[in-house]
Amino acid sequence: MKLLLLLASLGLQLASTHAHVHNTTYNNPILPGWHSDPSCTLVPEWNNTFFCTTSSFLAFPGCPVFASTDLVHWDLISNALNRPAQLPQIQTSTNAQMLGIFASTLRYRNGTFYLITAWLDTDNKGVEIVLFTTTNPYDDNAWTNAFQIQNPLGAIDPDLFWDDDGSVIMAISGSPIKASYIDLTTGNASEPFDLWNGTGYNNQEGPHLYKKDGYYYLLIAEGGTELHHSSTIARSESIKGPWGSSPHNPLVSARYTDRYFQTVGHSDLFQDAAGNWWGVALATRAGPALYNESIYPMGRETVLYPVSWPTGDWPLADQVMGEMSGPLPPKTSKVSSGPTFKGEPDVVDFTPGSSFPKHWVFWRAPAKPESFTISPPGHPNTLRLTASRANLTGDASFKAPDGLTLLARRQTNTLFEFSVDVHPGFYKSQGDEIGVTAFLHQDHHIDLGIVFMKESSYSKGGLTFRCRATDSDATGSILPSPVVTPVPSSWLSEPIRLSIRAENSTHYQLSAAAAARPHQSKLLATFTAALISGPDVFTGTLLGVYATTNGGNQSMEGYVSRWRYTPVAQQIDYDNFVRS
Ligand SMILES: *[C@@H]1O[C@H](CO)[C@@H](O)[C@H](O)[C@H]1NC(C)=O
Ligand SMILES: *[C@@H]1O[C@H](CO)[C@@H](O)[C@H](O)[C@H]1NC(C)=O
Ligand SMILES: *[C@@H]1O[C@H](CO)[C@@H](O)[C@H](O)[C@H]1NC(C)=O
Ligand SMILES: *[C@@H]1O[C@H](CO)[C@@H](O)[C@H](O)[C@H]1NC(C)=O
Ligand SMILES: *[C@@H]1O[C@H](CO)[C@@H](O)[C@H](O)[C@H]1NC(C)=O
Ligand SMILES: *[C@@H]1O[C@H](CO)[C@@H](O)[C@H](O)[C@H]1NC(C)=O
Ligand SMILES: *[C@@H]1O[C@H](CO)[C@@H](O)[C@H](O)[C@H]1NC(C)=O
Ligand SMILES: *[C@@H]1O[C@H](CO)[C@@H](O)[C@H](O)[C@H]1NC(C)=O
Ligand SMILES: *[C@@H]1O[C@H](CO)[C@@H](O)[C@H](O)[C@H]1NC(C)=O
Repeated sequence: MKLLLLLASLGLQLASTHAHVHNTTYNNPILPGWHSDPSCTLVPEWNNTFFCTTSSFLAFPGCPVFASTDLVHWDLISNALNRPAQLPQIQTSTNAQMLGIFASTLRYRNGTFYLITAWLDTDNKGVEIVLFTTTNPYDDNAWTNAFQIQNPLGAIDPDLFWDDDGSVIMAISGSPIKASYIDLTTGNASEPFDLWNGTGYNNQEGPHLYKKDGYYYLLIAEGGTELHHSSTIARSESIKGPWGSSPHNPLVSARYTDRYFQTVGHSDLFQDAAGNWWGVALATRAGPALYNESIYPMGRETVLYPVSWPTGDWPLADQVMGEMSGPLPPKTSKVSSGPTFKGEPDVVDFTPGSSFPKHWVFWRAPAKPESFTISPPGHPNTLRLTASRANLTGDASFKAPDGLTLLARRQTNTLFEFSVDVHPGFYKSQGDEIGVTAFLHQDHHIDLGIVFMKESSYSKGGLTFRCRATDSDATGSILPSPVVTPVPSSWLSEPIRLSIRAENSTHYQLSAAAAARPHQSKLLATFTAALISGPDVFTGTLLGVYATTNGGNQSMEGYVSRWRYTPVAQQIDYDNFVRS
C-alpha cells in the first residue's frame, strides 16, 4: 500500500516536470456574456477542479461559482449569494444601478472555500467587505451568511492571501495599492500599509498576492476598465516592500492595439495540476472602433491565457485572442450532474414541480418571490408573473423594496434567438404590460411589450405591441421613438410568441408571432445594441421577461410559457464567427 502511494506521488512529480508537452487550442471567452473580474483557483483536494467566480452587481442570485476540470467546459455549480437572508441589503437598499456586489477573490484553504467581495449600496454610503465561506461549493445552501470584514479605507476589490506563518493579508484597491492583516474569526483589519503604485496608469485596483520562489508577487489592474485596461505585476522579498515592477509589464493588455478582444485586464493567476500557469482576465469583444461607438452589449467577459513562469523569474503571458493554444488539461465534457451553463440552450417549459435554472437572475433579490410562480393551480406549464407597479425603468418614486417583476439570463452568444410565449388574457387596466427585454440595467434596456392601451395617441384601444428603448445617456439621435402596432385580433385567442434576436453583432430584431404559427412572424423593430452598452456601465445584457402596470395601482397577473434561448454563433475575431 505504502509503495503504491509512493509510486503515485512519483507519478505526480513526473507529470509536473513534463509540463508543456502537449498544446491544444481553445476559444475565448471561456465564460461568454457578462462575467467580469474573474478570480479562479485550482483545488487538488476536489479532483483537481478549477473554481472561478465573477462580479454580479445587482443580479440575484449573485457571486456565481463555476467549476471545470479542463478549463474549457464550465458548469455553474452554485451561487454563493443565493438567499436574501445572507445579505438582506440585496433586497432592500440598492436603488442605484451600478452598485451591489463588486469584484471578488475566490480561494481555498484547508477544506474551506473563501469568497471575499465588496458590497456597495445607496443607504450605506461606504463599501462593506463581506466574506462567504463553504465546505461544499456545489451546494447553494452550504454557503454561509455574509461575514463582515473591517474596511479601514472604504476601498473595493479585496484579495485574500495566506502567508507562510498562517497570517492572512487582504490587499485592496488604492493609489498605491494597500493591504491589511485581517483576522478571519473577528473580521478585524489592521492599520493598512502601502504596497505598490503600479506603472503609472489610473485606477490601480483588483490586487491579488501570490508567493513563489521566495518572492511576494502583486498582480493588479491599471488604466481603468476601458480601452487602457491592463494587468501589471510587481515583486518584493518582503510584504512591506520595496516592490519592483516587472520589466515585461503589462503582463496582459490590449491598449493601443486593434485586437478584437479589448479592455483586457483585472486578472488572476493559478496553476494546473501539471504545474502550468494560467491567467484569467476580463475582456470586451468589439475592437476599438465598435468600442468607441459603445457597441459591446455582452459587456465584460472572462478570458483565459497561458502563462510561463520560470523559477525565480518573471511571468510572461500570451496576449488574449479569440483562438489560443496552450497545455490544457485533458478534455472532459461535464464536471457535475447539475445544470450546466456554457453553450447550452434554454429549453424551459415551467413544468409542475420544476424550479428556475441556476443561471437565471432577478434584478435585486425579489421583494415578492411569489410574483414568479411556476405552474400555479389550473395553469400547468406556465410561469405566472405578478406585475410590479414600476416598469423596467421605474419612476422617481421607485425604491428597491417595491420590487421589479423581471426574470432573466445572460446573453452569452453574439448571435442568438430568445423567445417567450405570452398569454394575452392578462390585461385589466390602461398600462398593463407583459413583455421580453434585452436589459443592461434600469436605465438601459430594449423592450418588446404587449401593452393594454385604452386610449392613446398610438392606438384605438386594445392590446398593442410596443417596442421601446430606455437609454439614460443616449443623445436624441440614437434613442428611437417607440414602435407601436396593434396586436392582430385573430391572434388574441392563443399565446403570442415574442422574440429578440441578434441579427448581427450590432443590431437586435424584435418580432412577434401567433405561437401556433411561428413561421408567420412579424418583424416589429430593429434597434441598435448601442442602447444597451456604454461606458461606466459594468453589467452586460440580460434577456428576460417582465410584467408591469406602468405606474397603475391595480393588481395584474399574467402567464408566460415556453422559454427558449438558442445560441447561434460566437464572434471571436473580426472575421471569425464560430457557429453554435
Ligand atoms: C472525485 O471524482 C470521483 C469520481 O468521479 C467522485 O466519486 C468523487 O466524489 C469526487 N470527489 C470530489 C471531492 O469531488
Ligand atoms: C485545518 O482544519 C482542521 C479541521 O478543521 C483543523 O483541525 C486544522 O487545525 C486546520 N489546519 C490549519 C493549518 O489551519
Ligand atoms: C476588533 O475591532 C473592534 C473595533 O475596532 C475592537 O473593539 C475589538 O477590540 C477588536 N478585536 C480584536 C480581537 O482586536
Ligand atoms: C507612490 O507614489 C507617490 C507619489 O509619487 C510616492 O510619494 C509614494 O512614496 C509612492 N508609494 C509607493 C508605495 O511606492
Ligand atoms: C477610440 O477612442 C480612443 C480614445 O478616444 C482613441 O484614442 C482611439 O483612436 C479610438 N480608436 C478607434 C479605432 O476609433
Ligand atoms: C505550448 O503553449 C505555450 C503557451 O503558448 C508555449 O509557451 C509553449 O511553447 C507551447 N509548447 C509547444 C510544444 O508548442
Ligand atoms: C416607465 O418607463 C418610462 C420610460 O422609461 C418612465 O419614464 C416611467 O417613469 C416609467 N414608469 C414607471 C411607473 O415605472
Ligand atoms: C447589422 O444590421 C443592420 C441592419 O439592421 C445594419 O445597419 C448594420 O450595419 C449591421 N451590422 C453589421 C456589423 O453588419
Ligand atoms: C397610486 O397610489 C399612489 C399612493 O397611494 C398615488 O399617489 C398614485 O396617484 C396612484 N396612482 C394612480 C395611477 O392611481
